[in-house]
Amino acid sequence: MPFLRVFVALLTGLLGAASAAGQASSSNRVDEATFHAICASCHNITLVDGLRTEEEWRDEINQMIKIGARGTEEQFARVMRVLARTLTMVNINSANARQIAPVLDVSDAVAVAIVKRRESTGNYKGLDDLAKIPGVDRQKLQARKDRITF
Ligand code: HEC
Repeated sequence: MPFLRVFVALLTGLLGAASAAGQASSSNRVDEATFHAICASCHNITLVDGLRTEEEWRDEINQMIKIGARGTEEQFARVMRVLARTLTMVNINSANARQIAPVLDVSDAVAVAIVKRRESTGNYKGLDDLAKIPGVDRQKLQARKDRITF
């Protein structure tokens, strides 16, 4: 019965997407908890503020490690992910897809499409240009405009 098969396929797809989203958000919660556990152990978490590039955050964390911050490599990777989602800036004309995805809050596939368009057509000139890529939400871009440089 083809109809039933399509229905089952659709349902499986939906459930798969829902569980992937669930996994992403529970992993985000672990990231957040780790960030608080490590970065609020000496000072208030609100001290972790201001926008920096990925490299600058890496330097900042290395500085914290020098003065006594302790954690595993995985925990610091979680801290970096929180910072990537919230306080990291990217240059959209030089960043790679891995760096772009969390800052813009787009899927890896959309981030790859952003890089491909840049490589085929040249640099982005502004947010309007970027908003043309399918999967990029204009409102999300607007909310992140201070974190996107060209
Ligand atoms: C061992 C204690 C300790 C831990 C753990 C720690 N910090 Fe700090 N942090 C400090 C101290 C002390 C200062 C203020 C003096 C300074 O800037 O060197 C500071 C200051 C800062 C500043 C402000 C610096 C500036 O230039 O304005 C940032 C940002 C920061 N920490 C981020 C973090 C992050 C992110 C983490 C988690 C990875 C973290 N800290 C964990 C001790 C710590």
